This record gives sequence, C-alpha cells and structure tokens, in this order.
Amino acid sequence: MGHILALAMQKGGVGKTTTTLSLGTMLAARGRRVLLIDIDPQANLTQGLGVDPGALEYSVYEVLLNPERGVGFATITTDAGVDLIPAALELAGAELELAGKVGRELLLRKALRASREQYDYVLIDPPPSLGIFSLNAMAAADAVIVPLQLHAYALKAMPQLEQTIELVREIHPHLAIGGIICTLADRRTNLSLQIEQQVRERYGALVFETVIPMNVKLAEAPTVGKPIGVYAPSSAGALAYEALATELESRYGV
Ligand SMILES: Nc1ncnc2c1ncn2[C@@H]1O[C@H](COP(=O)(O)OP(=O)(O)O)[C@@H](O)[C@H]1O
Ligand SMILES: [Mg+2]
Repeated sequence: MGHILALAMQKGGVGKTTTTLSLGTMLAARGRRVLLIDIDPQANLTQGLGVDPGALEYSVYEVLLNPERGVGFATITTDAGVDLIPAALELAGAELELAGKVGRELLLRKALRASREQYDYVLIDPPPSLGIFSLNAMAAADAVIVPLQLHAYALKAMPQLEQTIELVREIHPHLAIGGIICTLADRRTNLSLQIEQQVRERYGALVFETVIPMNVKLAEAPTVGKPIGVYAPSSAGALAYEALATELESRYGV
C-alpha cells in the first residue's frame, strides 16, 4: 500500500511545489510508482510538468465534486514519469460550490481510497492558505511533510503549522508529521546555518539530514516543463532532491 504524503499547508514561496515536483520525479526516476496531486488553483505543479491547466478534460475539480468516481478518470500520465491529477483554473470557484457539501474536508481522501495501492507514493501539493483545498490535502494524507525556509521567521512558522495539524487531527486523528525539510538554504550565510541548527535542536530526528540549497536550476526547470533530474542532472538542486528521495525511502521503507 502506497504512502500518501501531503506537503504541509504553509505560506507561499517556501518550496512546497518545487519539493513535490522534484521529489516526486526523483522517486519516479528510480522506478517508484508516483502520483502527484495539484490541489492549488494556481496550478503551478501542473504547469511545472508541462501540462496546460486551461486545456484539460478533467482535473482535481471534478474529483472533488464526484469523489465516488475515484481518481482514475482525472489522472494523466506525464513525460516526467509521474502520474498527475492536475489543477484547472475553474478550481478557484470550487471553494464556494463545496462549502455546503457534507464531509467536504474528506472528498479527496474518499476519492483516493480505491487507487492508493496502485502507487508507492502519492504526493499532494496544497495552496498556501488554510481552506477547503489544504484541509482536503491534509485529511487525505498519512503524513505531512513540512518545507521550512531557512530564514529568521522559520521558527515562527512551526507553531502555526502545529495548530493547523491539531485542527486536521479533529477530522483525521492519525495524521503524522512525516518530516521537516530545510529548504532555500544559503550556506554562505551564518543566518541560514544558525536557523538550521535551531530547527535541528528543536525538532531532532524529524528534520531530514538533506538540506535543499537555493539553486537557480530548481526555479528554471518548471518553466520548461522538465523535471530537475532531466533539466540539470548534476546541479546542486538535483543532487539535493536525489539525496532527499533516498532519505525518504529509508524512512518509509519501500
Ligand atoms: N531551492 C530553491 N532554489 C531556488 N529557487 C527555488 C527553490 N525552491 C523554490 N524556488 C523558487 O521559489 C519560488 C517559490 O517556490 P514554490 O516551490 O513555488 O513554493 P510554494 O509552492 O511553497 O509557494 C518559485 O519561483 C520556485 O521556483
Ligand atoms: Mg505552490
């Protein structure tokens, strides 16, 4: 049975989408069966895989509206070797449509039930704000992965996240923190190193050994719709996400 991991709801720009994309495609490159789910109306993950969110027959929108249909009908294969449930632009309007639905936080969880054993990993990329989409992402997951940008405010972000997890646990009691990933590290600066050290002191083994550096190739790859392992295989960014994939596998034991 596959592992369903959601990137934690965190403010924008911390590396959620980059991590979903890069980690997911690295896992696929080593033969794992990977499904990525874009549940952010901005559709950055979808576009980063070279898929046009304006030209889709189905997206995660229809999945949320008809969870009893499962996810297969809305899943597409990509050149990057991962399967994708894309986001489409009409997703932005779904928030209102879903507002009156009973069990509206559990729609994605329900939809995934029949398909999860087809995959080794399902990675879900949520939007930056707390709402119906991020609640669906976390409620569908076994564990959340937290990307933590190494800057002075990083430690303030954690208590906020813990509050959100408490909220999700009310609907989904077994949700775990799968790990914390230090991202956007600038190892030339003392500040970045100091924050990393503080994060490790406070969260211990939850923090992945691998640190993701700031690396321009990671920002460029999605603009050409290619995974980092194909676009710039020997870049610092590719090597870091490769190491992270290895570490994740040793944690989850595939
Ligand atoms: N390690 C990195 N090095 C350089 N740029 C990065 C890195 N991680 C993310 N970025 C860039 O920073 C921006 C925000 O990252 P993104 O993954 O989209 O964050 P989020 O999904 O949390 O909003 C994007 O433009 C992305 O390309
Ligand atoms: Mg994003």
